[in-house]
Amino acid sequence: MKSSEGDILEPTIYRGMIIDFIDDPFVAPSDKALRYLEDGALLVSNGKIRSSGDATQIIEKNKNIPIVDLSGCLISAGFIDTHIHYTQMDIIGAHNHGLIDWLDRHAFPAEMVFENEEIASEAAEEFLKILFRNGVTSASVYCSVHPESVNMFFEKASAYNAFMVAGKVCMDRGAPPALLDSAKSAYDQSKILIDKWHKKGRARYAITPRFALSSTREQLENLGALWGEYPDVLMQTHLAETREEISRVRELHPDFKDYFDVYETTGLAKPGGIYGHCIHLEKRERSAMAACGATVAHCPTSNAFLGSGVFDLGDMREATPSIPVSLASDVGGGTSFSPFATMQAAYFAGRYHEIHIEPAQLFYMATQGAAKALCAHDIIGALQPGSDADFVVLDPLSTPLLSRMTSRSNNIDELLMAFIMGGDDRCVRATYISGVNVI
Ligand code: GUN
Ligand code: ZN
Repeated sequence: MKSSEGDILEPTIYRGMIIDFIDDPFVAPSDKALRYLEDGALLVSNGKIRSSGDATQIIEKNKNIPIVDLSGCLISAGFIDTHIHYTQMDIIGAHNHGLIDWLDRHAFPAEMVFENEEIASEAAEEFLKILFRNGVTSASVYCSVHPESVNMFFEKASAYNAFMVAGKVCMDRGAPPALLDSAKSAYDQSKILIDKWHKKGRARYAITPRFALSSTREQLENLGALWGEYPDVLMQTHLAETREEISRVRELHPDFKDYFDVYETTGLAKPGGIYGHCIHLEKRERSAMAACGATVAHCPTSNAFLGSGVFDLGDMREATPSIPVSLASDVGGGTSFSPFATMQAAYFAGRYHEIHIEPAQLFYMATQGAAKALCAHDIIGALQPGSDADFVVLDPLSTPLLSRMTSRSNNIDELLMAFIMGGDDRCVRATYISGVNVI
């Protein structure tokens, strides 16, 4: 069988070093949680992983199946970015004086053109190609306020058969009039989009109130009610990113205990809720998030670039139960599509709080931990039999410098650390989506 681009979907064995997670490295020791096979193999057919394990055994059992020799390369589950705006790639690195100024001067103007289907379609295609080039196989994506932007995004993603979460941003205040919907149209349009896209193939919908500053209580309540009607869709929003934002939320929503309470009280705090940033939370908010099954999308390059603050992973781990944290670029607030840049920045943020985040923990937050945030860890973020065949091939010798760095690695932790500190899109030798090589 061949895909439209001529890629082979016949059963194939991929042989190389393999990593994936059999446990959570924040709970079990890294060397128990991470499975590392120095000479491993994946057997892939019809877009799924059929088996993964020791290369000699898999090859012996499947004698007639062709082998792609990736010796020397590391095969991992594809990276998953749990918070990214496809409307904002053109404004990466734009000059600013912090979040609110950046939204007004760059993000809002950039999003205005996404009503135009041609522009949205071209941007969606380019965005997906850049994700894949960086080894990112799935993402949770903010579109613009315009339903057209969601339709164009999902059309392009489904052409690649990519597992993508996306939603129409909802805002009925606090933005230029051309970007506003209303409490009612946000509900109506989101509902139509859910019916049209959610679980169509690999598409998943996320109800997407931008943040408490750009929604009235009525809009948030309508979206909370919508989530009640469609409990298996996701919900994504921003939370406690900057101090200025928090004090404005207090003024705009004086009836609530704190920022997270705005979402709790309006029905927007449940498992499947992905909250971006979460830098400046109070203890009560962290307890409430832990209790309701919320997860955090940690956006470290964005936090540094916009000067929002330094996220404290330790605070999340100390909540009872721990609040799961995944990694995200937050492009265009974030400065890179590369999961290596994101992992590196997350490592630095940890260092500022005097914690050392293990390389396996960083990879986990960028793969299986992120799949859990998307409520999809049964099919993505792993290389287990039955998983969708979304994986990346990383080449430790891809550049002279990375080659020098990785050649000093004595074990898998050191190799992962070298990739985190020295890797970029050049080390992504191949990205497979549903078993098809897309770069
Ligand atoms: N808060 C509300 N909207 C946005 C956005 O687009 N980017 C970031 N980083 N924060 C936000
Ligand atoms: Zn964001």
